[in-house]
Amino acid sequence: MNTMPDFIHIDAQQRSVSLDARNPAFYGNPNATYALLHEHCPTFYWEEQKQWFFTGYDHVNALLRDRRFGRQILHIATREELGLPEPLEHTQHFDAAERHSLLEIEPPEHTRLRTLVNRAFVSRHVEKMKPEIETLAHGLIDRFEKDGQTELLSSFADIIPVTMIARMIGIPEEMGPQLLKWSHAYVGMYMFKRSREDELAADRAAKEFADYVRSVIAERRAEPKDDLLSHMIHTEHKGQFLTDDELISTTIVLLNAGHEATVHQIGNSVRVILESGLNPKSLFGDEKTTERTVEETLRIGAPVHIFQRWALEPVEIDGVTFERGDKVSLILAAANLDPLKYSDPLTFKPDRAEAPNLSFGAGIHFCIGAPLARLELNIVLPLLFQRLPHLKLARQPKVKDVYHFHGLERLDLTW
Ligand code: HEM
Repeated sequence: MNTMPDFIHIDAQQRSVSLDARNPAFYGNPNATYALLHEHCPTFYWEEQKQWFFTGYDHVNALLRDRRFGRQILHIATREELGLPEPLEHTQHFDAAERHSLLEIEPPEHTRLRTLVNRAFVSRHVEKMKPEIETLAHGLIDRFEKDGQTELLSSFADIIPVTMIARMIGIPEEMGPQLLKWSHAYVGMYMFKRSREDELAADRAAKEFADYVRSVIAERRAEPKDDLLSHMIHTEHKGQFLTDDELISTTIVLLNAGHEATVHQIGNSVRVILESGLNPKSLFGDEKTTERTVEETLRIGAPVHIFQRWALEPVEIDGVTFERGDKVSLILAAANLDPLKYSDPLTFKPDRAEAPNLSFGAGIHFCIGAPLARLELNIVLPLLFQRLPHLKLARQPKVKDVYHFHGLERLDLTW
């Protein structure tokens, strides 16, 4: 039995938990807290968040696929009916950009949009990007190899996902740094306890981002290229095309989701591997072992921990009753540590042959970028350890205070 730290209070009888998500003792190592929750209270009411949370693998997996829950509810109910506040004036550009985001819509709109985006995506053949990712990663390592040290997030992890997704969409690479700025400001809206300043910054970023994408769409309409944006403009399904607003929302969500999580995952994976003390040569022996290593780092070091759902109708799960319009939270990163599914769940064991991790979700919203993210991780991680076989942590990395994302502030390495 684990001892109870003082930053968390668990009332197992009432299934109630009190926990400050801004406490570094928690967000610095959420896996330890997830282990306590599995032990005492895998389904619980989080007092500070005023919501029910699920950590059990079977519950999270089933809830992600359960059509009685949705990422959106305003397609079947009005704000008045649900007692929801009116949209905020100062986040109107953000709301407009989110309006057609795949992550904010439900069938039938979701099915139509996802089919069209998927068609364009498939036609870009993610696998074809392999040599480009290799060349990019080699080029970045060439820049810092002779220094004997680097801060890996800024010199490597930050650059690869944004460059690849920008290339794939067809946005000029020089825009990379600007895209990063917009994206960082934009995702501030998803943080627990955001401030009005965070909201204003996100809204400004959404407006600038949307205006920019609109101008690129106009260029591609006039002169199509072999890129995702041109494919999305011209992809047709049952006589339908994507509208400009849908194209803008889709481009923004692909760029945001496409790099932030992958940056964090590269950092988290390198850290997990270095802290495991295992020999990188054996972890990346061949493609199969590399794949297992990558999946295990995704399991134990997931970059985005919580996804929410609305109850679309009255429903009972694990003895908890939800009314239409209630919200529930699923902790994917905790489901990845469920002792009912994984032996010794807090230990990094790439040779485990147990349940697949839920880091990319499940069901109709399953990550559309998972093949690209997996390809990047399966290429850049082995390459980094091959090029720098004596890689070591220069100091204990600090986790960013942005729960429910899980990523590092810096990753200082030496060799
Ligand atoms: C390690 C990296 C990544 C992780 C862990 C991750 C995780 C996730 C998860 C868990 C979901 C499902 C959310 C839900 O069910 O509520 C999701 C959806 C999504 N992801 Fe990713 N993602 C990653 C990389 C990417 C990349 C590279 C792209 C773009 C190329 C991308 C684009 C998307 C999009 C567009 C959706 C929404 C799909 C839909 O709602 O139909 N993600 N991602």
